[in-house]
Amino acid sequence: MNQHSDSTYHDPFDPAALLKWYVEMGVDETIVGESIDRYALSAEMLAKRQAASPQPRVQTSAPVQQPQMSQAQVRATDEMVQTAVAMARKAETIEQLRDAVNAFDGCPLKKTAMNTVFAAGNPKSDIMFIGEAPEAEEDRQGVPFVSPSGQLLSKMLHSCGLSEEAGDFDKVYLTNVLFWRPPGNRPPIQSEIAVCLPFVERQIELVDPKVLVLLGGAAAKAVLGHHEGISRLRGRWFDHSSPNLSCPVKATALFHPSYLLRSPGQKRRAWSDLLKIVEKLETL
Ligand code: URA
Repeated sequence: MNQHSDSTYHDPFDPAALLKWYVEMGVDETIVGESIDRYALSAEMLAKRQAASPQPRVQTSAPVQQPQMSQAQVRATDEMVQTAVAMARKAETIEQLRDAVNAFDGCPLKKTAMNTVFAAGNPKSDIMFIGEAPEAEEDRQGVPFVSPSGQLLSKMLHSCGLSEEAGDFDKVYLTNVLFWRPPGNRPPIQSEIAVCLPFVERQIELVDPKVLVLLGGAAAKAVLGHHEGISRLRGRWFDHSSPNLSCPVKATALFHPSYLLRSPGQKRRAWSDLLKIVEKLETL
């Protein structure tokens, strides 16, 4: 532990002040009475990793234990979906839709989230990306794709010419399937997706992109309705239609950037997929 003579910690009985003082002093781990066998810990971690499925365990495609809903909960969710449909339909511009999402109280995640995270980028763009849900940093800032995985996506977009400046989303439009962060970044559950989806669909209609890119299995499943995993969906093209779109949008799926952070070996495939997406965009 760092010792500083100019310490500002004065109150030994205030736990919050004590904790703050520890952080300021650079304390980054606690030392307990018993020694920790780090070798045993890493062997345990390795065994856990080896037991894990060889399938890409993307946050987005992890099998989600869907909670059983009572009849009353099903009815309440249906009502919220209807409310979301009505609110989304009324919006004639992205700004009106943003206001509608901000005013919508039908997603329970709104109660635990710090901020509503709507969208970023250029709503006139020809290419739209849809991720899964805000992570911790997005929740803090109220802006999508600012976390480490968002920064990776931003670097990829810059490298393939889809942004002028690294860190800028000037040539693309981005949103998520959920507008509020699930606690602890757990995967979304169906009822949360169901109540947010009408706003996502309306966003697609208002942006009316030439190309739609779903980031990860959960986004692909929610928007395209395909139940195959992301490894099977990536690299393929689908037509996404909705009643208010002038013509179907060309849609594809890409590995989610947070999966790429965990599995850097897959970055080559994602990069090659992204270059094909840019090529496709140029032909449309
Ligand atoms: N940040 C987002 O806003 N969405 C994701 O899916 C991942 C990171």
